[in-house]
Amino acid sequence: MAVVSTSLAGGAVSSQLTQFSGLRKSFLKLDSTNANATQSLFHNVNSHLRLASSNKGCRGVVTMAGSGKFFVGGNWKCNGTKDSISKLVSDLNNATLESDVDVVVAPPFVYIDQVKNSLSDRIEIAAQNCWTGKGGAFTGEISVEQLKDLGCKWVVLGHSERRHIIGEDDQFIGKKAAYALSEGLGVIACIGELLEERESGKTFDVCFQQLKAYADAVPSWDNVVIAYEPVWAIGTGKVATPEQAQEVHVAVRDWLNKNVSAEVASKTRIIYGGSVNGGNCAELAKQEDIDGFLVGGASLKGPEFATIVNSVTSKKVAA
Ligand code: PGA
Repeated sequence: MAVVSTSLAGGAVSSQLTQFSGLRKSFLKLDSTNANATQSLFHNVNSHLRLASSNKGCRGVVTMAGSGKFFVGGNWKCNGTKDSISKLVSDLNNATLESDVDVVVAPPFVYIDQVKNSLSDRIEIAAQNCWTGKGGAFTGEISVEQLKDLGCKWVVLGHSERRHIIGEDDQFIGKKAAYALSEGLGVIACIGELLEERESGKTFDVCFQQLKAYADAVPSWDNVVIAYEPVWAIGTGKVATPEQAQEVHVAVRDWLNKNVSAEVASKTRIIYGGSVNGGNCAELAKQEDIDGFLVGGASLKGPEFATIVNSVTSKKVAA
């Protein structure tokens, strides 16, 4: 397998700065005037890998391949009490967060109202799940309409814990995504492979199949953030290396380019999740196709979550 160049060491950076606009390479912006350049760029990632060294002008320069704003979500899962959540909210309210990041937290359903009523509007609220359609006689479910009523803007769908512990399948998840989007909720659409799938070389196949299920169902990608979360990295403390994550993010962007459109490939945020913490976020954020994070355990600690949000600054090193 080819190895992604991850050399972040200095070297001939300053002479290349004119190629960059803000945090992004100007040549990556997708418009009619450079569509050919874009197509040829994506052509180069056919093998699922884009080597940083293949574009000599960018060697050692860190930036964003996509055009979307950095996005960090905190998935609190089935954790917390009224008291612990009130402390977490207060820590988040007191944290200094970089302005150029979309920040979202996903409390357990039963605390959404408490969080919405106490958390700064700077941070949006996501639910961790939703029903596939309008509410009604569906015992134990929560409808999109109810989530919107509480002020939720997002919903996390397709999380590995729902796929592999609860048993949700691609079609069920796609249906939920389609309904949530049609009602105006943003969707954090999770994908990711099991350890045995990675070890048997099926990582891309699994991720593409999960992506296809979303693509087949959703009316538009405008309000979708893709979260690549290798299952073996979730809650295990075993984070993917920046190279492993970047390799899949490139492949996902390439898949979107080939199967949806170049515009969607550029605009859609592809965030990484799986044992992200305050210590490893900066190196991961430097990868050009990592547009943010979905954070579990470390999102339960306000100051550490703020550090992860602020890792956007490591993208600015060369800009
Ligand atoms: P983790 O969880 O950060 O605790 O690994 C990530 C997730 O499940 O979204």
